[in-house]
Amino acid sequence: MRVYAVKDYREMSRKAANILSAQIISKPDSVLGLATGSTPIGTYEQLVEWYEKGDLDFSEVRTVNLDEYKGLDKENKQSYYYFMHRHLFDRVNIPQEQTHLPDGTNAEAEKECRRYEELMESLGGIDIQLLGMGHNGHIGFNEPAEAFAKETHCVDLQESTIQANKRFFESAEEVPRQAYTMGIGTILRAVRILVIVSGEDKADIVKKAFWGPITPQVPASILQLHPDVILVADEAALSKVT
Ligand code: F6R
Repeated sequence: MRVYAVKDYREMSRKAANILSAQIISKPDSVLGLATGSTPIGTYEQLVEWYEKGDLDFSEVRTVNLDEYKGLDKENKQSYYYFMHRHLFDRVNIPQEQTHLPDGTNAEAEKECRRYEELMESLGGIDIQLLGMGHNGHIGFNEPAEAFAKETHCVDLQESTIQANKRFFESAEEVPRQAYTMGIGTILRAVRILVIVSGEDKADIVKKAFWGPITPQVPASILQLHPDVILVADEAALSKVT
């Protein structure tokens, strides 16, 4: 694992955008695995800025997102579809049909998960997967569990995740109870994994995930076994690592 220790959120975002840009420049039709949440917003902003300057071209890029709430349609402002369009897809020259997320409106979970796995396979797999990390070490919606989930699957959200995500909804009742997410096995198949973490509130979990034992109780800890992981974290997030 390569660790880039950076000063703050802004530098984390610039470094992550740099790494993604290098990927796009060296392979214009790269398959990018993307994430939502507050951590990657600055990274997407930086990519948009470089695109506007004429330094980046997304015309051949393909994207697959980690996860999507089950039951939210595309117009719903809390859907990850909406998030991705707002922060990235609508602001760069990526053709809409080259962007992919699990379809939250498909009620048939098994079918949808199979479709998504097959789709990723047909794209030739993920070149680089961008990941944020939850306070309990979740990646995508892979929560602490007894075992690592392999493939894309439908999850029941944990109470802690519902509580953490309710800030985006009118009330906790409106937070969907289920989501589709790539599995840990799906994530590990990416050629390269880029993890971004910022803030003191993530310091404990950064230490556990990357310097602690590998356990499904800390889903991100499995990333220690991947041959090409880049961790970009700011000083606050690395403050518990000696
Ligand atoms: C989002 C995702 C989640 C987030 C995680 C951290 O697509 O898969 O695992 O990366 O919940 O969220 P933030 O960045 O809001 O702290």
